[in-house]
Amino acid sequence: MSTITKKTVTKKNTAPKRKVLFVASEAAPFIATGGLAEVIGSLSKALAKSRKYDVRVIVPLYEDIKDEYRKKYKFIKSITVPVSWRQQYCGIFEYKECGVTYYFVDNEYYFKRHGCYGYFDDGERFAFFCSSVMEILPHIDFYPDVLHCHDWQAALAALYLKTKYCFRPEYQFIRALFTIHNIEYQGWYSMSVLEELFGISYDFKHLVEFNGGINLMKGAIECCERFSTVSPTYAQEIKDPYFAHGLHEIVRRNEFKLTGILNGIDPDYYNPSTDNALPANYSAEEPGNKAICKAELQRLLNLPVKPDTPIVAMITRLVAHKGLDLVTAVVEDLLQRDVQFVLLGTGEGYYEGYFRELARRHPDKVAACITFNANLSRKIYAGADVFLMPSKSEPCGLSQMIASRYGTVAVVRETGGLRDSILAYGSGGNGFTFANYNAHDMLYVLNEAINLYHNKEEWSKLMRKAATTDFTWSASAKRYDKLYSDLLTYATEARR
Ligand code: GLC
Repeated sequence: MSTITKKTVTKKNTAPKRKVLFVASEAAPFIATGGLAEVIGSLSKALAKSRKYDVRVIVPLYEDIKDEYRKKYKFIKSITVPVSWRQQYCGIFEYKECGVTYYFVDNEYYFKRHGCYGYFDDGERFAFFCSSVMEILPHIDFYPDVLHCHDWQAALAALYLKTKYCFRPEYQFIRALFTIHNIEYQGWYSMSVLEELFGISYDFKHLVEFNGGINLMKGAIECCERFSTVSPTYAQEIKDPYFAHGLHEIVRRNEFKLTGILNGIDPDYYNPSTDNALPANYSAEEPGNKAICKAELQRLLNLPVKPDTPIVAMITRLVAHKGLDLVTAVVEDLLQRDVQFVLLGTGEGYYEGYFRELARRHPDKVAACITFNANLSRKIYAGADVFLMPSKSEPCGLSQMIASRYGTVAVVRETGGLRDSILAYGSGGNGFTFANYNAHDMLYVLNEAINLYHNKEEWSKLMRKAATTDFTWSASAKRYDKLYSDLLTYATEARR
């Protein structure tokens, strides 16, 4: 007779990880021209950290990706990828970090150029990129559950999935999510290139057709199972012609599959207590050294070192929708007070000239740094007192969150992600806000902020509130988790 021995069974979490592939034109820290890259870099890590996801990110291998990164990439193989009738070389490189696997798509003809965008053949470059995304999957043995495409440069990946690849068995259950980081850039092309360049059959013309041409963002909205934007308010706003750059009717018609999820920032990367760009470190609990950062900033920018003069700062692209016309309308009034105004950014010639001239006329009060300098931006986030962001529209915005994390109080217009992240001081919030796109409304709240600055006790409470607001990905990563789950429930049901 055999004896039965009792075994202790430990329950393991054997649920397979869900597979997500981010398709984007930029990813920090490798290649970044703006907020999109930061979000790709930090959201992918936050999802991987939850251990529920196998997260992979695919981007082009641009010339501007520095050697310090490049030399770590592993060559996987090279394949041939169709761009309509053309057959193009595609090298696949891989790199793993913080639980995320990155793929870099190599083709020197398309990507051995400076910068990421602005070339006459951007349509072809991103058609190649998106076609590569589809073709690579069997070679990396990774068929994602969710193909998460970001902005117009990745829209063709969703379109290729739904018009060509979903007829192949391995691709049929891949669900597509399209995230709009900025509805202004849509990918407009002439209808004549639909087959010739994008390799999309005229049978699918209706998906991309908009005002007689091709609109890639419109195509992605139409064919994805879900689409999203980077803040709940922006998801509402893009139904309105004022914000939608022509796409409001398409957004409204597809509203049933639209979600808005606020971006987060990486609290370890943006951390005043460890940031080595700062002359001294501090935290919300021990903010004392912020005064050193302020004095050093004033010295660096040749402004009088005055501890009790508030510094109002802007770090922005110098383009109209960032609210610069409000600033130019009232900045002279603001400068009547004992304030210093610091601006960092590049952009339209008119604004570059305006702020240079302003600094020339007010050398004791204004510093205009017409450049892009990440190191200096950290010094400004830390050394300033008030951070101004009066955008006309702002899908999410990250600077207001970074400034707050550095204890610099944000003054924002209530639009998009600014409205969702900064709440008015008067209602117990973490900054100052104004609703109408009006220069004197902005000046009014700026004055309120400056008045409060002189009430040291209240101001330090507000600084602390700003610095301790939770801008991490924790809440938003859960929302993406829910969104992916909804998408996949649908896929699981379809499988039955
Ligand atoms: C775009 C938007 C910005 C957003 C960023 C990341 O750059 O203009 O508001 O924060 O994408 O989603």
